[in-house]
Amino acid sequence: MEANLTYQSISPSDFFYRNREIAGFSNPSRAIYSAIRELLENSLDACEAYGEPPQIYLRLREVTTTESGTSIYQLRIEDNGTGVPEEHIPLCFGQVFYGSKYTLKQSRGTFGLGGTITILYGQITTHKPVHVISSTGGKIYDYELMIDIQHNRPIVLKRKTLENRRKWHGTIVELYLEGDYPRAMSRVCEYLKQTAMINPYADITFVDPRGRLFRFERGTKKMPPLPREVKPHPHGIDVETLRRLISTTRTKNMFQFMMEHFQGVRKSIVERFLQTVGIDPKTKPKSLKPEDIVRLVRATRTFNDFLRPDASCLSPIGKELFETGIRKELNLDPKVDFLKVVQRKPATYSGFPFIVEAAVAYGPSIKKQNKPGITLYRFANRIPLLYDEASGVIWKVVNKNINWSTRSPPTPPSSSPSTSAPPRSPTRRWGRSTSPIDRRSRGRSPTPSGRPPAH
Ligand SMILES: Nc1ncnc2c1ncn2[C@@H]1O[C@H](COP(=O)(O)OP(=O)(O)OP(=O)(O)O)[C@@H](O)[C@H]1O
Ligand SMILES: [Mg+2]
Repeated sequence: MEANLTYQSISPSDFFYRNREIAGFSNPSRAIYSAIRELLENSLDACEAYGEPPQIYLRLREVTTTESGTSIYQLRIEDNGTGVPEEHIPLCFGQVFYGSKYTLKQSRGTFGLGGTITILYGQITTHKPVHVISSTGGKIYDYELMIDIQHNRPIVLKRKTLENRRKWHGTIVELYLEGDYPRAMSRVCEYLKQTAMINPYADITFVDPRGRLFRFERGTKKMPPLPREVKPHPHGIDVETLRRLISTTRTKNMFQFMMEHFQGVRKSIVERFLQTVGIDPKTKPKSLKPEDIVRLVRATRTFNDFLRPDASCLSPIGKELFETGIRKELNLDPKVDFLKVVQRKPATYSGFPFIVEAAVAYGPSIKKQNKPGITLYRFANRIPLLYDEASGVIWKVVNKNINWSTRSPPTPPSSSPSTSAPPRSPTRRWGRSTSPIDRRSRGRSPTPSGRPPAH
C-alpha cells in the first residue's frame, strides 16, 4: 500500500509555537512566571552589560477575564540597560534564535529565545503586537511588532523615531498575554525575592495585577566585574567547532592556528601537542582531512598539558556582594544571626570554567521567617533555580550527606544559598522549565508594601 505522508519543514518559531511547553509556557500560570522571568533576565543582562546598577520597573495589569477562568494581562518592563541598536530591534524581538549572547562569556541568556518566545506566546494567546521602545543613548526607537511564525520573521507594524534630549538608554517592552496570576503569584514573588538576593545591586519594582507594590531596593551600588569574552579551550572543542575555525582562519599553518584560536596554549605546549597527534606544525589548516580533524579533537581529550581554562569569562558575585544580598533579603541581624559565605577557586567542566559560591545562614531571624528544617536556595549564572530542587547534587549534600546533629549549631540551618557561575554549565537550563508551577514553594514571599506609583 502506498503511504500517504506529507513532508514539510517548519521554522524555529513554528517549532516553539507547537512545543511551547519546553520553553516554559505549558499552562497559564506557568506562562506568567516564565514571561516575567525571561523579560527580567534580559533586562538584568542589558544593565550589567552597560555597567550600571539595574533599575527595573515591572508591571502586570489585568485587562480582561476569559471564559476558561484565566485572564488577559498587560506585561510591561522598563530598564536602564544598553538598549538595542535600531537595526537589531525587529530581529531581537521578532525572530527566534537571534541575539547578542552567543559568545564565550557568562550571561543569563544563552539561546536567543526566551524574550522572543514570550512575545510569541503573547501573540498566539491575544493576537496583539508587542511594543518595544529602546535607545542606546542616541535617538529613541519605538516599534510595534508581530512575529510571522511560519517564516520566523518580524513584521513591523509601526515604527517611530523620537528625540532623546535626556540621553536615556534602555529598553521598554510591553505585551499582552493570557495567564493565571493568582496561581503563579507565590512563585513569581519567590523568584523576585531570590533574584534580588543574588543581584543585590539591582533595584526592582513590581506592581502586580492587584495593584500591590513589591519593592526590592538595592543594598549596594557595587557590581561584580564584567566578564570578558574568551577563546575556546582545547578541552571544550568538538569536530564542528574545529571545522568552523578551520574554514574561517587566516593562519598559514597548524602551529599558528593553535596559538591564534585557543586559550590554554603556549609555544612549547602546542609543539608537544602537535607532535603527540602526529601533525606537522607546518601543515596548512585547510589541508586537514576529516579524519585528521577527528584525530585532533580526540587527542585534546587526553592531552593534559594545556593550561587551565581562563576564568575571566565569568562574573562571580563574590563574597561581599553575596553577603549583602542574603542579609538584605533574609533580614539578618548581624548581632544574633550567623552567616558564612565562601567562594571556591575556579574549576572546569569539559573545558569551561566555573566557580562555586556557597553560603550558610542560621539564627533567630531566619527561624521566624522559614519553616523548620533547611531551606535551600540555588542559583546558576545569577538566576534562581526554583524547579527540580531535589535533582541537584547540592540538595543531596545538604539533606543527605551532612549530618547536622554533629555540627555546631547542632540544628540544621534555616537557609543555605549557593551559586555557580559558568558560561556553559552542567546545570541544564531546561531543568528550570520541567516541573509544574504548583509545586510547593519553599521560603517566604516578600510582603507587599504601599500602593503602586502612577504610571
Ligand atoms: N531589555 C533588553 N535590553 C537589551 N537587549 C535586549 C533586551 N531584551 C532582549 N535583548 C536582545 O535581544 C536578544 C534576544 O533576547 P532573547 O531573550 O530572545 O534571547 P537571549 O537573552 O539571547 O537568550 P535566552 O534564550 O537564553 O534568553 C538578546 O540576546 C539581546 O541582544
Ligand atoms: Mg533572554
